[in-house]
Amino acid sequence: MSTNVHAVYFSPTGSSRAMAQEAASVLAQELGLTHAEDWDWTFPGGRAAAYSPNAGDVLVFAFPVYAGRVPQLLLEPLGRLAGQGVYVVPLAVYGNRHYDDALLEAVELLYVQQFSVLAAGAFVAEHSYTRKVGAGRPDAQDMAALAAFARKAARRIAQGPGERVHVPGNRPYKTLPPAVDIRPRTFDTCTGCGLCASVCPVGVISDAAPHLTAQGCIRCCACVKICPEEARVFDDPLVTRIVGMLETNCLTRRKPETFVVGQEQ
Ligand SMILES: Cc1cc2nc3c(=O)[nH]c(=O)nc-3n(C[C@H](O)[C@H](O)[C@H](O)COP(=O)(O)O)c2cc1C
Repeated sequence: MSTNVHAVYFSPTGSSRAMAQEAASVLAQELGLTHAEDWDWTFPGGRAAAYSPNAGDVLVFAFPVYAGRVPQLLLEPLGRLAGQGVYVVPLAVYGNRHYDDALLEAVELLYVQQFSVLAAGAFVAEHSYTRKVGAGRPDAQDMAALAAFARKAARRIAQGPGERVHVPGNRPYKTLPPAVDIRPRTFDTCTGCGLCASVCPVGVISDAAPHLTAQGCIRCCACVKICPEEARVFDDPLVTRIVGMLETNCLTRRKPETFVVGQEQ
């Protein structure tokens, strides 16, 4: 049986995917494994698919930090994975505010599924809500740090099993904000091209009438960012307040943080 490295990710606006793929590529090269197909959990079909790692595989699991936590729609597909000691490298990708308890939550979720987690990292990307926060991230410096981290993770994995990596975070995890029904507004400059519907990870935008968004929007901003006419916007007062806070308090560049068993800071 061949042993593979898979990039596993949920990535509505693409930064977690880019980081998962780069880390998987470096790990495969360093460990002499095949960089095999991605397990893309961005869309409902991918999250429902039955994936099972083989002994000797290595996974990179990258996800955007949402409200300081792992996106809750990933708990179900994660809960169906049987780890059997397979190595996973979690990457919490966040928008330059903070990753709070998300990396700890990911490490603990993977541990419960019996994965072996020897290395983990938190990396910065442009914030979903505003292009001004984390602007241009991940940049060349971030990608170089990611490759260096993946090489370190590969060296540690090559040494064999060990204790679970220690990462920052608190228990109980940060309380999730109450669910609110906020959907993007669509201006009449919308041409009905349907690009927004094609990138919606929860399938709430109508293909036939893309200006209609059903209940269940997770505010990932994929539709806002992809719209060629800039016809979609979150102008709800709650989102406007969060954007104001981010653009006031979260402009100082945060650095990647990486953790490898035996080398934690
Ligand atoms: C609903 C929501 C909540 C978010 N919460 C946080 C957060 O707590 N801290 C942070 O720094 N960034 C936060 N972000 C920003 C994303 O983590 C960041 O933009 C990430 O890179 C998006 O990943 P993607 O490009 O793979 O979709 C949030 C974004 C969304 C949509």
